[in-house]
Amino acid sequence: MEKINALKGFKDLLPGDSERWDWLALTARRTFDAFGFSPIHTPILERTTLFTRSIGETTDIVEKEMYTFEDWDGKQVTLRPEGTASVVRAFLEHRHQMPVLPVKLYYQGPMFRHERPQAGRLRQFHQVGAEIIGDIDPKQDIELLSLLTYFFKRIGLDNLTLEINSLGCPVCRPPYREILQDFFKKKLTTLCEDCNRRFHKNPLRILDCKKESCKTITTDAPASAKHLCTECDEHFKTVQQGLKTLKIPYQYSKHLVRGLDYYTKTAFEMTTQNLGAQNAVAAGGRYDGLVEALGGPATPAIGFAMGMERLMHLIPETKGMPSTLQLFIVPLGESAYQTLFPILYSLRKKKLRSEIGYSDSPLKKQMKQADRLNAEYVLIAGDEEIAAKKAILRNMKTKSQTEIGLSNLINEILAEIEG
Ligand code: HAM
Repeated sequence: MEKINALKGFKDLLPGDSERWDWLALTARRTFDAFGFSPIHTPILERTTLFTRSIGETTDIVEKEMYTFEDWDGKQVTLRPEGTASVVRAFLEHRHQMPVLPVKLYYQGPMFRHERPQAGRLRQFHQVGAEIIGDIDPKQDIELLSLLTYFFKRIGLDNLTLEINSLGCPVCRPPYREILQDFFKKKLTTLCEDCNRRFHKNPLRILDCKKESCKTITTDAPASAKHLCTECDEHFKTVQQGLKTLKIPYQYSKHLVRGLDYYTKTAFEMTTQNLGAQNAVAAGGRYDGLVEALGGPATPAIGFAMGMERLMHLIPETKGMPSTLQLFIVPLGESAYQTLFPILYSLRKKKLRSEIGYSDSPLKKQMKQADRLNAEYVLIAGDEEIAAKKAILRNMKTKSQTEIGLSNLINEILAEIEG
């Protein structure tokens, strides 16, 4: 029979990696908690219009990457390609159940984009994200960026670059768009086919083209931050001042644009040189118009999301690994097993990482298994020892053995192993 494997771009997470994954998720949770964020869980499947309306009709995600299909009732539904749109939808749908503004929410979970899979780019990937909804003050931008920077420090990654830019707002973006089109107008024949399409639909995206020939042309393109209205300009300056006050290093990146259309004012990415082409580990920005675009009252907001798979590549493999097996119990015979199994249960309740062998397996085979599992200690008892109310505890490193009485077995084991 033909073997069934996982789909391309969809990955299993196996022991050896999943411990590190869980450690990352837990550290994120603890960090968000300290910064006053509450968890939110939204469905993976949403109405397609939620994403087309928020991410933008002319973005790569909406044009060619969404997992969209017709539901049984004929409605168009989509596996979420990102988390922000869903969080805003939930915010609007359950407004009365939300904490007071600004609402600070974080989430973790799978996202789906039909991209060409490569290292650091999957079709099902996982994000950890945070959103602050309901405050236009640049203090929120600073708070969010300080959270992001602190999280990376906490997981031992302080060699990343925080790149920031301002993309303006509905007042200053349209004139900048025209300035940009003016700049690119004479260069259309040299720009790639995609950029020629972008020129009409979404000229800012030309700045993000990865093709070398386009990159050369964009070097001298006008920067959005140089064409901001007074409000956006002041906002951007205050954010940068706040970062300086907190001594958070950042780099102003004049051509940083985002692949989602909802961004206004501050946009940022946390980048690394260690991930090849997929250099953004986290990304986000302000989206002051999204709540309104999704049918709510005008409500400013800002957020970011980090890619778990990309984070996994960067942190040492030993992070989050549990201690090796502390105790392997070797029961020689059924009567020994019946006595030792409740002891194993008690030890596990005391949080000792422990295992037991098969009672019908010979000593040599069980010892081999203990070795394979890297057990620190082995407790051995045959039916004879059990009758004599004792067992043998062997330190696998020093090879020393002690005989311990069954009556106080649990305490003696804990004393020996945990010291
Ligand atoms: P994004 O830049 O599309 O933003 O994704 C954020 C992060 O998710 C990326 O920096 C990357 O680490 C990871 N990521 C994205 N696509 C993939 C993929 N195909 N494979 C692996 N990792 C990937 C957003 O999604 C926005 N919702 C962020 C945001 C939150 N903005 C405001 N609030």
